[in-house]
Amino acid sequence: MRWHVVESYEEMSRKAAAFFIEALQENPRLVLGLATGSTPVGTYQELIRAFREGKISFQQAFAVNLDEYAGLPPDHPQSYAYFMESELFAHVDMPSHHRHIPKGLAPDLDEECRRYEEVIADLGGVDVQLLGIGVNGHIGFNEPGTPFDARTHVVELTSSTRQANARFFDSLEEVPTHAITMGLGTIREARHILLLASGPSKREAIQALRKGEPDPQWPATCLWLHDHVDVMVDREAYGE
Ligand code: PGA
Repeated sequence: MRWHVVESYEEMSRKAAAFFIEALQENPRLVLGLATGSTPVGTYQELIRAFREGKISFQQAFAVNLDEYAGLPPDHPQSYAYFMESELFAHVDMPSHHRHIPKGLAPDLDEECRRYEEVIADLGGVDVQLLGIGVNGHIGFNEPGTPFDARTHVVELTSSTRQANARFFDSLEEVPTHAITMGLGTIREARHILLLASGPSKREAIQALRKGEPDPQWPATCLWLHDHVDVMVDREAYGE
């Protein structure tokens, strides 16, 4: 695990985007593993800028997202499909049939999880997976206690995660109770992983990761079992 401690959210975003830009320049057919939340927004803005400047194209690239709320349609402003559209896809040239995100409205969610695993396998796996980290150390919606070999599955969200995400909804009651997420085993199959963290609220989770030991109570620590992980954190998240 390589650690990059940077001064600010902006620097973290530029560094993460630079990684993707180089990877896309080397391999235009890159399979990007993408994430939602406030953490990757700056990275997406940098990628949009690079696209506008003609440095990269997403025409031949593919995207698979980590997770989606159960029960929200893709045009719901808090769905992750909507987030990806407004924060990235509407501004770049990736064909819509190259973008994948679990379907939160699928009639059979377990079947949807199986289908999603097949989508990833058919693409030949994820080349570079972008990750944020929850205050409880979750990645995707893999909450504490998730087995490190879990595949894409339906999760019941913890109250900590629902409270952390309530800021995007009118009330806590409106935050969905379930979601579909790539499992920790699925995530760990990405060839390269980029984990980003910014701000003091992430310090405890980053402290747990810094201990260097896989601990199921802190899901992100499963990344110690992976050989190609870059962690980009600002000082506030890194601590002393
Ligand atoms: P955030 O969420 O980027 O909005 O902080 C990260 C996460 O919960 O994985």
